[in-house]
Amino acid sequence: MANTRLNQIQSHLGPNDLEIDPTRVDGQVIVITGAAQGIGRSAAILLAQKGAKVAINDLDGEKAADVVREIRGLGQIAEAFPGDALDENFPEQLVTRVLAKWGKINCLINNAGFCHDSAIHKMPDAKFDIVMKIHNYTPFRLLRALSSHWMDPAFRDMPKNIVNVSSTSGLHGAMGQINYATAKAGIVGLTKTVAAEWGRYNVRANAVAYGWIDTRITRPPTESEVLSIGGQQIKPGIPMNAKKWRDISDIPLARPGTADEAARVMLFLASPLAAYVTGTCIECTGGRFM
Ligand SMILES: NC(=O)c1ccc[n+]([C@@H]2O[C@H](COP(=O)([O-])OP(=O)(O)OC[C@H]3O[C@@H](n4cnc5c(N)ncnc54)[C@H](O)[C@@H]3O)[C@@H](O)[C@H]2O)c1
Repeated sequence: MANTRLNQIQSHLGPNDLEIDPTRVDGQVIVITGAAQGIGRSAAILLAQKGAKVAINDLDGEKAADVVREIRGLGQIAEAFPGDALDENFPEQLVTRVLAKWGKINCLINNAGFCHDSAIHKMPDAKFDIVMKIHNYTPFRLLRALSSHWMDPAFRDMPKNIVNVSSTSGLHGAMGQINYATAKAGIVGLTKTVAAEWGRYNVRANAVAYGWIDTRITRPPTESEVLSIGGQQIKPGIPMNAKKWRDISDIPLARPGTADEAARVMLFLASPLAAYVTGTCIECTGGRFM
C-alpha cells in the first residue's frame, strides 16, 4: 500500500525528485538582511548548514562578523556585508557586491527590522517614516536592485525566491505600533505583487508573519542597546509592562517561539520544499490569533 502511494508520488514528481533532499539549498546564494542576531542569525546558520552561501548584512558589523566566523567554523560558507540597509543607496550596493563575490543571487530574505513604538496621538512623522523605510522601502529597493539579474533570460531556470518578514501586528493590529503594523501589512502586499509580477521569471515570493519570538525586539529594552539610524535613537524591545503582549493565555502552545524555530519557516519557504508555494503569508505564532 505504502509502496503504491510512493510510486504514485514519484511518478507525479518525476523520476529523480525523491532522490533529492528538498530541505537542501546546496550552492544557492542567499542574502539575509539583519542577520547578526535573532531570527536572521538563526536563518543564516541553518541555511548555511543546508548548503547555501550566505551573505550576512547587518547594521552591527562586529556581530555580523561573529556570525560569519561561527558559520565558517561549521565548515560552511558565509561572508559579511555590513551596512545600514535603510540607506537609500545601500540595496543597490549590496546586490552589486554579492554578485561580484558569487556571480548570482538565488534568494533574498528581507529580515532587518525594528520597532519604534508610540501611541497614535504621540507618533511624529519621522518615527512613522523610519519604520516604513526599513520594512517597506528597503525590501522594495532590494527587489528593484535584483530585477535585471532575475529578469535575465540566462538565469530563467535558476531557483529564485524572496522571503519577506511580516508580523501578527501587521495582520491583526497592535497597540502602540501604528507605524510597525502599517509597514508589516504593507510587506504582505509587496510580497503578493512580486509573486504576481515575477512568476513569469520563475521567481517565488512569500512572507512569514511571526507572533512572539524571543529575540532582542521582544525582550524589555535596555539602556545599552540603542540603534542609531537616520539620526534617530531607537531602543528595540517591548516593555515588561506590556501585559497583553506578554500574556501567553491566548497562545495555544503557551510560550514564545525561539529564533531557531522561526528560522525553520524561512528554510521551508526558501527551499525546494516550497517549490510550488508563492504569494502567501505563513503565520508562525504558536497559534496566537488563529
Ligand atoms: N521577534 C519577534 O517576535 C518578531 C515578530 C514579528 C516580526 N519580527 C520581525 O522579524 C525580523 C527580525 O527581528 P528579530 O526579532 O530577529 O530582532 P533582532 O533585533 O534580534 O534582529 C534584528 C536585526 O536587524 C538589524 N537591523 C536593524 N536595522 C537595520 C538596518 N537599518 N540595516 C541593517 N540591519 C539592521 C539589527 O541590527 C538586528 O541584528 C524583523 O523584521 C522583525 O520586525 C519579529
